[in-house]
Amino acid sequence: MTDKVDITLAVNGRDYDIRVEPRRTLADTLRDDCGLTGTHLGCEHGVCGACTVIVDGAPVRSCLMFAVQAEGKAVRTVEGLANGDTLHPLQQAFMDHHGLQCGFCTPGFLMLATGVLEREPDISDEDLVDVLSSNLCRCTGYQNIIKAVRAAAAEMRAK
Ligand code: FES
Ligand code: FES
Repeated sequence: MTDKVDITLAVNGRDYDIRVEPRRTLADTLRDDCGLTGTHLGCEHGVCGACTVIVDGAPVRSCLMFAVQAEGKAVRTVEGLANGDTLHPLQQAFMDHHGLQCGFCTPGFLMLATGVLEREPDISDEDLVDVLSSNLCRCTGYQNIIKAVRAAAAEMRAK
């Protein structure tokens, strides 16, 4: 077994001082060491996008990144999206447009969409659909997810 190392992870504006093996993924670390189980694990090899979080402003598949690589960077997870009791526009839109059923894929879609809309608020509809196609959902058939993200994008642009 490899020796563990001490790292500090900045997640949702809070510092977590933890000790991890260098090979430990960011996804496992967020869930098991930081207690942030909103980040879900599906395939664990970069295909489904359920584990998507935002690292320094960019959506990242946290099952493909080591926790040690995230040290010194700003990590955001689904737990940091709402502002107190007020849902993020994307969270509200997923509810309003029935963008989730079992909810397993939802944190990944929310973080993917948040990262993309923050970086590119005027993204074309075609590109938006293309980006969303990178995450997998077994339940919804995608149409309501796309509707929800379109609605949230319009609301975020109007603010
Ligand atoms: S769990 Fe990371 S991409 Fe599927
Ligand atoms: S809502 Fe069930 S996997 Fe997407």
